[in-house]
Amino acid sequence: MEYEIESVKQLARQLEDDIPTLKLEDLQSKYMGKNGLLKQLLTDITNQSDEQKRTYGREANLLKHYFTERVSQLSSHITIDSSTEKIDPTAPFDINTPKANWPKVKGIEGTMHPLMQEMEHVLKIFQNMGFEIVESKQLDDDYHMFESLNIPKGHPARDIWDTFWTDDDLIPPAHTSTMQNRVMKERKPPIRVIVPGRCYRNEATDASHEHTFYQIEGVYVDKNISLGDMLGTIKTYLEAFFEMDLEIKVQPAYFPFVEPGCEFMISCPFCKKTGCSVCGYDGWMEIMGCGMIHPNVLKEAGIDPEEYTGFAWGFGLDRLVMIKHSIADIRRLHSGDLNFLKQF
Ligand code: PHE
Repeated sequence: MEYEIESVKQLARQLEDDIPTLKLEDLQSKYMGKNGLLKQLLTDITNQSDEQKRTYGREANLLKHYFTERVSQLSSHITIDSSTEKIDPTAPFDINTPKANWPKVKGIEGTMHPLMQEMEHVLKIFQNMGFEIVESKQLDDDYHMFESLNIPKGHPARDIWDTFWTDDDLIPPAHTSTMQNRVMKERKPPIRVIVPGRCYRNEATDASHEHTFYQIEGVYVDKNISLGDMLGTIKTYLEAFFEMDLEIKVQPAYFPFVEPGCEFMISCPFCKKTGCSVCGYDGWMEIMGCGMIHPNVLKEAGIDPEEYTGFAWGFGLDRLVMIKHSIADIRRLHSGDLNFLKQF
């Protein structure tokens, strides 16, 4: 289906007219679902000429937000009556579901976990920057965890990310880079995707290390993309997240799937480089690994590295939340301690 900007606006108006008569399920399937109008609208960006893409993309994203907000506002009165409907807490959850449509149990208010509050915040920032969201998997295979990332069998880098394997040769992913190959294979450049997901490491836990945490991967591929684009994109995001200007610097780091690979650092948001206990009196904080996607990784995903370049990053959400809220021990985030959680 093809949409012009005008017809997209027309859709918004139609939504206004339809809402009073639609049921929650209709709202979700007609507008927000897999085959919903919103999805078609965003897919249709790829059919636009390069020149149109810029304006169309911006309009389409604004409308996406409009739809999401509107549908969530208008459906906020719909709650699931716990006496008639059972909630399955193990059911897979679609991260794009508007908050107002999350299952509710009557009489229990509760609040969102600080990690999920910040996850929403982060996703919103990237959506506003034109990124699409794709969730990672909780179990993945050798190809996506290693081979597709330029880490062949016998490569020493396997040790860093090797955890344990199930009987079916699956592994709980140690990073969200497992999705790089998939998101690049399934799309044509320009590609702008972020991947939130749970990661699992073989870590002895302490105040700043956890075996389970959330990572957010970014993948950006297009013609003429340089390291400068990467630095600008990550800086823009971090300044929006911390709501302040930051100084940045990078230092070389090795990851087999990027070349060059970097460690991205920001000036300490608390002491502004004068030195404090949060940054260990260093003035700088290491925030994430990133780099230009290795030509082998692009090739493996069917993208010609002579024609396209791109960058990727991966950061731990838990760590950013710790810094932002001055949380001294990362283990508190998963402790389920209500006295701690009630502060957010
Ligand atoms: N996956 C890396 C890690 O978890 C981070 C990273 C992602 C580095 C993308 C470079 C590019 O340590």
